[in-house]
Amino acid sequence: MRSASSDMRGYTMIEIKNLNYQYEDGTVALENVNLTINKGEKIAIMGPNGSGKSTLFLCLNGVYKPTKGSIHVNGEPIMYNRNGLKKLRQIIGIVFQNPDNQLFSADVFQEISFGPMNLGLEKEVVRERVESVLDSLHIEHLKKRPTHFLSGGQKKQVAIADIVAMKPEVILFDEPTAALDSYHSQLVNGLVDELCESGITVIQATHDSDYAMEWADQVIVIQDGRVIAKDNPQKVFQNVELRERAYIEEPNVLKMFNCLCRTHMIENINDGKCPRSIEDLVKLIELL
Ligand SMILES: Nc1ncnc2c1ncn2[C@@H]1O[C@H](COP(=O)(O)OP(=O)(O)OP(=O)(O)O)[C@@H](O)[C@H]1O
Ligand SMILES: [Mg+2]
Repeated sequence: MRSASSDMRGYTMIEIKNLNYQYEDGTVALENVNLTINKGEKIAIMGPNGSGKSTLFLCLNGVYKPTKGSIHVNGEPIMYNRNGLKKLRQIIGIVFQNPDNQLFSADVFQEISFGPMNLGLEKEVVRERVESVLDSLHIEHLKKRPTHFLSGGQKKQVAIADIVAMKPEVILFDEPTAALDSYHSQLVNGLVDELCESGITVIQATHDSDYAMEWADQVIVIQDGRVIAKDNPQKVFQNVELRERAYIEEPNVLKMFNCLCRTHMIENINDGKCPRSIEDLVKLIELL
C-alpha cells in the first residue's frame, strides 16, 4: 500500500464501497455504506448512539473486516494479512473511543514511544516526537506515571498522544474530547487544527454540533448503520428534518442566526451560507 505525499490535497484517500458489517451476534452495524474521503479533508461523523460510527472507524483501521463490500486506501484494497494491516496502520491511525482498548504499556512515556519505535525510528527521534506531543497537550507531568492509574480524561489524552506521535496520513478520532474538561478539549482541538494544517486527513466522530459546524469541511450523518447525509456543515445543520431524525442538536450559531432572521434584524440571504462560528455572526452583525 503506497502512501500519498502531503502536497496531494484533494486526492481520493479512502474509498468505501457497499460496506456492510455484521457482528457475530447478528447485529447489523453498517449497511451499504458508500463514501469517498479526500486527502486533507476535515470530516465530522455524527449520528445517534449505536448508529455505527465506531464500527465504521474499526473497519477503516482494519480491526474489523467488512462482511460485504470493500475499502480502498490510496487506491489499493485493504489487505487483511499481517503485513497489509501493519502498512494500513502506518497510514491510518485511530484514537479509540475507550482508551482502555488502546493503552497497554506500563508508563506514559513507554506507551507513546511504542508506535514510533515500531516504525524503526532512531531513539532520539522517538524521544523528540514524544516530548513534542506531550508538550502540545500540556501533559508532560504525566510522562512517568503508570498508564493504569491515570484518570479517564488523562488516559484519553495519552491515547491521542499515542497516535499523533506516529504521524499517520489519516487520523480517526472517536469522540476525542468527550471525557475532557474545557481546557484540555481546547488543547486537543488546537492540536487537531495543527494536524489538519500540516495536510493530515482528520475524521472525527462527535456529538458536538457547535464544534462540527465550525471545524468540518464535510459532515457525514449515520443512522442505523446507513449514511443518511454527507454535505457541508451549513447544509446538514440547516436541515431540520435530518437533525431531528439523527438526534443532532442545532448549533448555537444557527439558533442565533435564525432568530435574528426571524425578527428581520438580519436578512436571510437563503443561499445556505449562514455563519459557522459566533465570531462570524458577530462580524455579520457589526456590518449592519
Ligand atoms: N462487539 C459487538 N457485538 C455486537 N454488537 C455490537 C458490538 N459492538 C457494537 N455493537 C452494536 O453495533 C451497533 C453500532 O455500534 P457503534 O459502537 O458502532 O455505535 P456508535 O455510533 O459508535 O455509538 P456511540 O455514539 O454510542 O459511540 C450498535 O447497535 C451496537 O450495540
Ligand atoms: Mg462510538
